[in-house]
Amino acid sequence: MTTENNKNIKILGFAGSLRKGSFNKMLLNAVRELAPEEMEIEIFNLEGIVPFNQDFENEPNEKLKTFKEKIRSADGLLIVTPEYNYSIPGVLKNAIDAVSRPYGTNPFEEKPIGIMGTSISMLGSARAQYHLRQSLVFLNAYPMNKPEIMVPYAEKKFDQSGKLTDEFTRKMVKEFMANLLKWVNKLK
Ligand code: FNR
Repeated sequence: MTTENNKNIKILGFAGSLRKGSFNKMLLNAVRELAPEEMEIEIFNLEGIVPFNQDFENEPNEKLKTFKEKIRSADGLLIVTPEYNYSIPGVLKNAIDAVSRPYGTNPFEEKPIGIMGTSISMLGSARAQYHLRQSLVFLNAYPMNKPEIMVPYAEKKFDQSGKLTDEFTRKMVKEFMANLLKWVNKLK
């Protein structure tokens, strides 16, 4: 059997930052390298999800339709969030709000989810992560409780090319993803 055939767990990952040099995107990219080989990690970019207006919730654009389908067909999700003003960035909240509508079409229902994040401060996105968990309660998703992964001082953890170089963080990410695999399998 080839390695490709072993990839029977599909994880959809997205970062709550649109910027090119995003540390959270770098962290998400590192997951591809550090996840168990059974996991296929697809990365989805939130660029193109327009500001949500409930007047048009029955007319999602192609980007939003694709996002919803990809969430539905994934075995699990990985959300990598920055922290903006002690909470999650509007881009991420908007994407979650938009894709969860109209009522009755919430793709997060009973979905296993891993949450990670990094910030340039010493709390590494902790406050944002707990706000994200609160929204996931309403959506009846199943975020993994432990281990948690909050990467502080982001600017010291990646090299010029965007590679995660901090050995401790690499070890934590590896352990986190091994646990996410168990969590996804447990809920299957
Ligand atoms: C920030 N930043 C920040 N950091 C933090 O640890 N706690 C916070 O509350 C905030 N607040 C905040 C608000 C806004 C509007 C911006 C733009 C930034 C700094 C943040 O950690 C840093 O910009 C990260 O690099 C953002 O993540 P990405 O884009 O690198 O993934």
